[in-house]
Amino acid sequence: MRKRTGLIAAATLLGVLSLGTLRAAEPDNHSPDIPAAVRAAMADPELAQSDFIENCAGCHGVRGSTVPAHLPEIKDRVGWFMCTPESRAYLLRLPNVAHSRITDNAQLADLMNYVVFVLGGKSVPSGTKPFTGPEVAHERQFALTSVSLKAERLRLANEAIRKCRAPTSLRLQYLGSPQ
Ligand code: HEC
Repeated sequence: MRKRTGLIAAATLLGVLSLGTLRAAEPDNHSPDIPAAVRAAMADPELAQSDFIENCAGCHGVRGSTVPAHLPEIKDRVGWFMCTPESRAYLLRLPNVAHSRITDNAQLADLMNYVVFVLGGKSVPSGTKPFTGPEVAHERQFALTSVSLKAERLRLANEAIRKCRAPTSLRLQYLGSPQ
């Protein structure tokens, strides 16, 4: 009898432990909700979200956060790059964006609006207009290379800091990053 009680106790403890682990992991594995105002600017919000998961989240994480991996943090930061026409073009010229296998420009615009307005959260300067299909079609012709990218990013981050009061940490890939 005592043995069985011990077993039950152990099983219960295991149950509690695994439930605890599941709970702890849960928030980071779920896509964020898409606010109604952002939905209104998208042709197909659900497609934009699943496109991000399929094409981008493998590297950037479902919520745009991969700290401390050596990758720029998208979550609550990427919106600052909507500061000037040049810096918003940078987002569409990124190699993984410009060369995306999503050939439909309106669909890629939706995906980038998801990235900026949902994952970027409060970092988007007020009054920012969403990306459009024709804008994507134009900018993706000027894809950046891994050579030009780093210097261009730093230049545009400095511009966003100066013109849109982005935090100076935007120069870094993520808060606390060594470079
Ligand atoms: C193979 C991994 C990988 C995939 C897939 C990928 N990215 Fe990236 N992304 C990177 C890396 C690495 C960087 C840093 C710049 C560089 O080296 O390209 C980056 C930079 C960025 C940035 C710039 C952020 C900043 O602060 O400058 C954005 C925005 C971005 N990616 C969005 C996307 C989107 C949207 C997709 C999907 C269409 C995507 N990425 C797919 C690895 C990836």
